[in-house]
Amino acid sequence: MSVNIIIGAQWGDEGKGKIIDLLSADAEFVVRVQGGANAGHTVIIGDTRYALHLIPSGILRPEPKCIIAQGVVIDPEVLLEEMELLRMHNIKLDGRFFISDRAHVVMPYHKLIEASGLRTPNRDIDTTKRGIWPAYADKVSRIGIRMGDFLNLPFLEDKIRHNVKQFNTVFGDSSKIKEDLSVDHVVKVYKEYAVKLAPYIADTLTILHDGLDRKANVFIEGAQGTMLDVDMGVYPNVTSSNTTAGGACTGSGIPPTSIDKVLGIAKAYITRVGVGPVPTDLTDATGDLIRERGKEYGTTTGRPRRCGWFDAVLTRFACKVNGISEIVLMKLDILDVFPTIKICDYYEYKGKRLDTIPADVTFFSEVKPHYQELPGWQVPTSDIKKYSDLPQNAKAYIQRIQELIGVRIGIVSVGPERNQTVIKANEAN
Ligand code: IMP
Repeated sequence: MSVNIIIGAQWGDEGKGKIIDLLSADAEFVVRVQGGANAGHTVIIGDTRYALHLIPSGILRPEPKCIIAQGVVIDPEVLLEEMELLRMHNIKLDGRFFISDRAHVVMPYHKLIEASGLRTPNRDIDTTKRGIWPAYADKVSRIGIRMGDFLNLPFLEDKIRHNVKQFNTVFGDSSKIKEDLSVDHVVKVYKEYAVKLAPYIADTLTILHDGLDRKANVFIEGAQGTMLDVDMGVYPNVTSSNTTAGGACTGSGIPPTSIDKVLGIAKAYITRVGVGPVPTDLTDATGDLIRERGKEYGTTTGRPRRCGWFDAVLTRFACKVNGISEIVLMKLDILDVFPTIKICDYYEYKGKRLDTIPADVTFFSEVKPHYQELPGWQVPTSDIKKYSDLPQNAKAYIQRIQELIGVRIGIVSVGPERNQTVIKANEAN
């Protein structure tokens, strides 16, 4: 039995949901550890497409217990909708779904502050508008409301009244805040949420630690991707949580010494939602073709994703900061039609070679990708079940990525279904 972290090795939307669903069949726990309803994990099972924002994808398997741990910021409205949707599909929640009493709550004033644009960086970062950054800001300002507060209604009411009053004092007169926030209304709505969610709120630290003592099989489901990590990514074009392996430990309470494996998920090309520099971004017909073939539109906001060639610098960086020991390469089939395929092996900056991700966003926006060009395979791969049956040029492409990132690719996904997944044996090349 082991503890595995599943991390996005690019800019998010790598397909972590499918891999968690695939690997969690014999997991006892699947745990969400950071982010909030800004995330969107799509899992397709038969004719049904499940788009989950908060509940771990492991819920779609009958066995695993699913936990939203303390590092997540929870919008109760979104969570209740998601729970209802799962119930409609006869997916059992009672006794197998737990919400950390330490997790913070996204409040209406968080969304209003974000929507107002009253506090923004000096460059647009095009957030998902889910109240994520104000909720995390309140958490570190120690004025956040936590899920545990939902278990003590008078205390919850007191906190809400205090916070809404402060919000109205600071922002209430601004013409940019369109909605009048009534204290009584927020108290009423959040008390109703509290009553509905109370049966699921628990001390998830103890649940997980008991599991670790029993040597339970645990999967930690990362949200977003390495390049969106508030510390590792290219600030300020990041999200507000630690999306990397360290965040998985603080966000769950599982100590680093208990982690057995960090598995990185990367698409066979790159995508990015939101603004910010993307060195291999393709703003031409090739990018459009990747987008159309890959159905690259955001799960949460429906925004078209920017698409480009695989960036080995970035995934190598992700492998290093997360300690990734194996990569799952997603959506290889999307590249089936291209006569040639490029991989960025390093960046060039003012005539010099650069092999890592700089901290500075202006610097990063000026790097130019250097490419290796490989022949495409131009045959469909979606029905291939064995690694050895992949076209030779596809295997050469995988092999080249592996060499450039310095980490083994162990699984290749060739379609959205569970069975469209090719496992690469150790010796295969
Ligand atoms: P926020 O997380 O809403 O604050 O948005 C910050 C940046 O992260 C924006 O560029 C978003 O598009 C991006 N982002 C947030 N969550 C996701 C995700 O799940 N997938 C991809 N991009 C995301």
